[in-house]
Amino acid sequence: MAQQSGVNDSSKPSKVENLLTLDYNNLTSDAVGPENGLEAGDLTSLKGLLTAAAKDFNARRKKGLLPFADLPTDTEIPKACRKLADSGRKKYENVVVLGIGGSALGTSAVFKALRPLNHNIQEDKKRGWPRLFVADNIDPEGFLAILEETDLSKTLFNVISKSGATAETMSQFMIVHDRLRKSLGAEAIKEHLLITTDPENGVLRRLVQSQGLSALPIPPGVGGRFSVFTAVGLAPLAMAGVNITDLLAGAAKAVEDFAAPPMANKALLFAGLNYLMTTQKNRTNLVMMPYADSLSRVADWFGQLWNESLGKAELLDGTRAAIGQTAIKALGATDQHSQLQLYMEGPRDKTICFIGVDDFRNQIKIPAVFKDQGELSYLCGRGLGELLNFERLGTARALAENGRPSLSLTSPKLTSASLGYLMQTLMLSTVISGSLYRINPLNQPGVELGKKFTYGLMGRKSYEDMAERYHQGKINKKYIVP
Ligand code: PA5
Repeated sequence: MAQQSGVNDSSKPSKVENLLTLDYNNLTSDAVGPENGLEAGDLTSLKGLLTAAAKDFNARRKKGLLPFADLPTDTEIPKACRKLADSGRKKYENVVVLGIGGSALGTSAVFKALRPLNHNIQEDKKRGWPRLFVADNIDPEGFLAILEETDLSKTLFNVISKSGATAETMSQFMIVHDRLRKSLGAEAIKEHLLITTDPENGVLRRLVQSQGLSALPIPPGVGGRFSVFTAVGLAPLAMAGVNITDLLAGAAKAVEDFAAPPMANKALLFAGLNYLMTTQKNRTNLVMMPYADSLSRVADWFGQLWNESLGKAELLDGTRAAIGQTAIKALGATDQHSQLQLYMEGPRDKTICFIGVDDFRNQIKIPAVFKDQGELSYLCGRGLGELLNFERLGTARALAENGRPSLSLTSPKLTSASLGYLMQTLMLSTVISGSLYRINPLNQPGVELGKKFTYGLMGRKSYEDMAERYHQGKINKKYIVP
């Protein structure tokens, strides 16, 4: 059975229930001991902290300061994206996203989770939807490989940049624009470009207006890493055949469930438990470890969400600090054979978050061959998914017995709705974590300085001082090994 084979939207969501379970037994002192885990008193104090954080969240949401939380119930943009998908399905063989960071990671995560893992290499007829490439780097070799793979005349390039100024995306755009013009002519360009950017500001929006390009808006108050449920993610995903209606229905359910009391509220608890583990148990790293290939990019997406949102040098009151919990990506069972040794016996600075799926969409049975081999007979007739899930459970238990805390997020099945629920829960949780740490989770001032040095080195006007400052940096040849 193919995974989500050619499903797209009717705009009526399927039934959404029982989408995610949070199990934090292995974070408690009962499982990992009082030095490593949380005690009943910690959980009691957490209740108060979470109640205050939720109150703060709801007040800010009411003032319109957290529009990401209302995206799942928007109908206008999803409708436009579904329409695009319907017409694009016949017209294009490929959709190529030009975007980076929050303009790319959510799309990659959902695409990998919800379309068959072989989507891009399936025959056109079987696939039924355009192939989707997310060009989120400027490595010339990687970008050229995508351009060579995609026939320009059958490709839609979706240029996505909220600021409309990001060097990586704009460079890609300039290359593509030039190639389209040279090979298809200036008029035909419009058929092959879709711009997703701020509704009013930025160079991209100006180009949309001056060149009459098709465009979709990114709501001004929604930052890149919270934008997967805007046109940023929805347009390319719908065009690749993802059921965005169910994705949003799952996300909407997560927002609905966010009204639950603290100790029954997954978004609040995920934030609160990790906050306590970081601040009281020195678990300054959070290893996100899905046990499903299809969820591996969700761990990448989460890495940006958690790290860029929570890694801050300043508290809300201006006090200098160095806040954050480093999200690290791992994949089960693969990384049991590369990283697990460290998690079992290395520094006691990590919480592991397992992400599991009870029932895989595709199954493979291990045939009953080599039954006579004692070391292999236990595998005969069992499912690969069953083995993977027992490895997840076994690893969690082994870590706990070694005083290594973990928690688990598990979905009965990976569906559009359960993925939407998981991602929205993690976004809500990130903003709640910001409140607990008393930092602003919605900005990213730390990435600016590196950009300025790049501008200086690239000779951008008005950044001459940055080039000078760069070259003033002391470089001692004795520390360079040729
Ligand atoms: O989360 C963020 O805000 C960033 O990661 C941005 O998404 C990223 O820098 C790309 O920015 P833009 O969409 O403006 O090109």
